[in-house]
This record gives sequence, C-alpha cells and structure tokens, in this order.
Amino acid sequence: MRPNWQRAFGSRFVSLCQVTRVLSCIQPTGEMQLGNYFGALRNWVIGQYECDGFYGIVDLHALTVTDQPGVVGQATLELAAMFFAVGLDPEVATVFVQSHVPEHTQLSWIAECNVSYGELSRMTQFKDKSAKREGEFISAGLFSYPALMAADILLYDADEVPVGDDQRQHIEITRDIAIRFNSRFGDTFVVPRAVMPRAGARVMDLQDPTSKMSKSAATDAGLINMLDDPASILKKFKRAVTDSDNEVRYDREHKPGVSNLLDIHAAATGRTQQEVAGDYTQYGALKVATGEAVIELLRPVQARYAELIDDRAQLAALLRTGAEKARGVASATLARVYTNLGLLPA
Ligand code: TRP
Repeated sequence: MRPNWQRAFGSRFVSLCQVTRVLSCIQPTGEMQLGNYFGALRNWVIGQYECDGFYGIVDLHALTVTDQPGVVGQATLELAAMFFAVGLDPEVATVFVQSHVPEHTQLSWIAECNVSYGELSRMTQFKDKSAKREGEFISAGLFSYPALMAADILLYDADEVPVGDDQRQHIEITRDIAIRFNSRFGDTFVVPRAVMPRAGARVMDLQDPTSKMSKSAATDAGLINMLDDPASILKKFKRAVTDSDNEVRYDREHKPGVSNLLDIHAAATGRTQQEVAGDYTQYGALKVATGEAVIELLRPVQARYAELIDDRAQLAALLRTGAEKARGVASATLARVYTNLGLLPA
C-alpha cells in the first residue's frame, strides 16, 4: 500500500528497508507528570530515531469534555513546549497538533459511517466517562470519540500504536473500522497493531504507592509534575510513604513505597533498582537522593521549557513544520479514501 521507500524517506535516520511507523497521541488536559514522562514521552524520544514516529497533541479530543474558550489552546501550547523540551525533534519525528491537520475531522466522519452504534455503545471508556457525567452535558463527541481516534491512526498508515491497557479497546475498534472499510471499498488502510509501550518505570503515587501516579489523584502531594520546582520535588519525596521495617530492598509486593522510590531512582539515573538499593540503608537518605536524581533529570527539561514557552514564534514555527509533514501524509490518505469510496471528484 505504502511502498517501503516512501516510509524510508519519511525520516532521514532510516535506510531503505522496512521502517515501522509508530503513532502516539496525548490529549492536552492537565499537567504532564513524571509518570507520563517515564511511561510515554521518554520512549517517544528514543523511538523517534528507531521508527518513523508520529506524535500528536489531540486537542479536538479534549473538546469532548470542555466548554471554556481558550483552555484547550493554552494547554496545547504548553504540551507542545513540553514535547520539544524533553527532546522530540521536529526534523526527525513528525510532531503535530490535531486541529492543524483538517483531515482528522474529515476522516473521522468516514470512520463514523463505518462503525456501528452498538460498537460505540460497548466502549468501556464511554460508559465510564458518561456515568461520571450523569446529569451533566454528555456530548455526542464523547460517544463518537473512538471514530476520531481511529482517524488519527488510520490517516498516517500507522503500523504500531503504543498504548496502555485503558486504550486497547480503542485500537481494537480502529482495527475493526479499517478491516470493514477495506472489505467494503477495497484495500485502503493499514490495519494497526496495539503494542505495549517499551518498559519504562511505572510510577506510583508517592502518598499511595499502590495506585498509579495520576492527575486524578485526590491530592497533589504524591504527584511530581514535570514543572515542579526543586524545593517542592524534594519536599514531596521527603514525605513519600514507605513502611516501618526500615530495610531498603526492592520488593514491589511487600514494599510498594520503597520499591517505587527505587524504580524512580533507577529510571532517572539509568541504574538498576538493586544497584540503587545497595547504596542506601536508610529510607530518609533514599528519599532525598531520589528527589535529587529527579531534580537533576528535570533541570535541563525545565530550562528548555522555560525558553520555549516564552518564545511563541519559535514554538509556532516548530508546530508548522510538524503540521506540514503531517498534512503531506494525511492528505494523500484522505484522497485515497475518497477515491476508493467513489465520491464525485470536485
Ligand atoms: N484516547 C487517547 C487517550 O485518551 C488519546 C488518543 C487520541 C490517542 N488519539 C490517539 C492515542 C491516537 C494513541 C493514538 O489517552
């Protein structure tokens, strides 16, 4: 469908051989945290040199639950600055904002016409999110969300989509849409695969180390935001929940708090949990050292972020590069779709 040489020329780091196209997207809602970095962003930065990477900020998805003007736009700007601050390179990967590529919404409609009401009704994310909004405004967009997500993926002929478990069902429905379309209208879409993100640290809440560090936590005390200042990072680590047996040992099941610190320390320094554990006998020292390792890890990211967020012209230029690259691919896919549908050419 897409010749290999075409994929190869998509990225200057690859040779004339089969290159996997990988696509991943994040919604611009809430602040990026250490968990997002170790679980996603850092992998994208490494992956951009190995695969033909497409990384999107899906601002239109965020509209399913927003009714305030400007909020999504500001969050998009901040997330873009974070993408570049951690090291995504717009010359190497394709980094884009969803609304800058109108083909997303165009293909989304086609996807809606190739997915059934029943299939969309069975999405657990829709059931959860709509249940939480009981009595509030539940937009049709919240319901048809998976069709827009399918469009994000299918537009770029993505081979692989690294996602967490909560998004697997959305990749399944994307595959169903692609397969159905291909059988109705002829071979058009690459059928994507969900892949496990490469192993990164699974960062747990510092106050509740049995649950994932997430922006939906009850308090901020256990969360490390990427933009937290050094003093608050240190404070949060010093207050991290551990246990009372005073032994520094890696054991996720019996010592979740200490193990979380060891995971974070190891992920921040590139060492193993056991090596780190060998260096400490006291929880207090481990907490401080882990906090310091995270501060050092984030220091250059925060410095670059500060520069970028103050330089809107540069950010806009970086995103324009991404939008142009993305549109090049997206418009070709949409043209193929319209042709195979047999729509009357304009
Ligand atoms: N639904 C995803 C989430 O909430 C975000 C997303 C939208 C996405 N489009 C995508 C993820 C395409 C991967 C590929 O996390």
